[in-house]
Amino acid sequence: MKKLVKNNVYWVGKTDWELQKFHGEELSTHKGSTYNAYVVREEKTVLIDTVWAPFADEYVRNIEAEIGFENIDAVICNHGEVDHSGALPALMKHIPDCPVYCTANAVKSLRGQYHEDWNFQPVKTGDSLDIGNGKQLIFVEMTMLHWPDSMATYLTGDNILFSNDAFGQHLATERLFNDEVSACDLDEEAMKYYANILTPFSTQLQRKLAEIQALNVPIDIIATSHGVLWRDRPEQIVEKYALWAADYQENQITVVYDSMWNGTRKLAESIAKGIAAADPDVAVKLFNIAKFDMNDVTTEVFKSKMLVLGSPTMANSALQSIAGLMHYLKGLKFKNKKAAAFGCYGWSGEAVKVMNGMLADAGFDVVDEGYRHQWNPDGEAIEKAVEFGQMLALK
Ligand code: FEO
Repeated sequence: MKKLVKNNVYWVGKTDWELQKFHGEELSTHKGSTYNAYVVREEKTVLIDTVWAPFADEYVRNIEAEIGFENIDAVICNHGEVDHSGALPALMKHIPDCPVYCTANAVKSLRGQYHEDWNFQPVKTGDSLDIGNGKQLIFVEMTMLHWPDSMATYLTGDNILFSNDAFGQHLATERLFNDEVSACDLDEEAMKYYANILTPFSTQLQRKLAEIQALNVPIDIIATSHGVLWRDRPEQIVEKYALWAADYQENQITVVYDSMWNGTRKLAESIAKGIAAADPDVAVKLFNIAKFDMNDVTTEVFKSKMLVLGSPTMANSALQSIAGLMHYLKGLKFKNKKAAAFGCYGWSGEAVKVMNGMLADAGFDVVDEGYRHQWNPDGEAIEKAVEFGQMLALK
């Protein structure tokens, strides 16, 4: 099961082909994922990260068969979240005195989750571990990327950055490297991962990227903890992260709506027509949030310069699908995005005003008071919706 990464470095992780949801039910993973763990075999043998708990027995059996517990000199835990630390309890039963190198915050998160007092060796940025044959492992704290306990580990000589969650993708594959998989799948999954997991930490990420670049060390491989490793031009994903962290947007407007009796759907489609008519260059995308995957729609919003949000009025408010999306987007702290709202109503018609409040609360720049129509939209209402779309495209 182990796969060669480079020289004496091997992948000893787990490919989870069946994974469809991650973080409980919060994040869709249509293409599965991997839990990447590694072993470095120089004069010292060092394990870097483990796998998610359901695969702990399989991981431990493989480590015993392919390495032997007696040969393990150290364990590095780059991050305490259970998808990477979940096999530690099973592993540490066999090597109870083995030193575990991690950040001080990871000591807290590991103790808090597993209630074990292993031989923790807390490390800070710049601390290193000599593994013989002239090679060292150097630790770099990655605080809030994406947990307080996160860290990366750099292997000198082989020039491998074990980046843990940063630069990952939820992509199950038998292949190990970025030049061995579909570029289309990889781009899509890397962006979805950034948009849905890392955007709240874009400011910290910009500082950390600058810090890593200032180290001026050669990086031949970025060995992530999910998906493929970046071997072909590893700087390409660092460049993309720099772009995504800088309040990213493309020339795209996304219309997201829900509808009860099709009135708001008709408005949504008419607004999309108006946007396309007013600006031939803009990409217009339209999603019924009740029917499409929220994380995929969120990635489309991440790419957009404007979100146009639609809901009919029910119980003096917007529909729960819209409220759920806006609650999620508020947490992601997208910046530099315009927005407007629209919707049909029967009598009281509060949804547009409610959505304006949700959009502003989530950090969107609401550029218009919105468009609402009473009862089923007819020819004139449809024409007004098209004009509303045209007006938004020109904002
Ligand atoms: Fe933050 Fe892949 O765990």
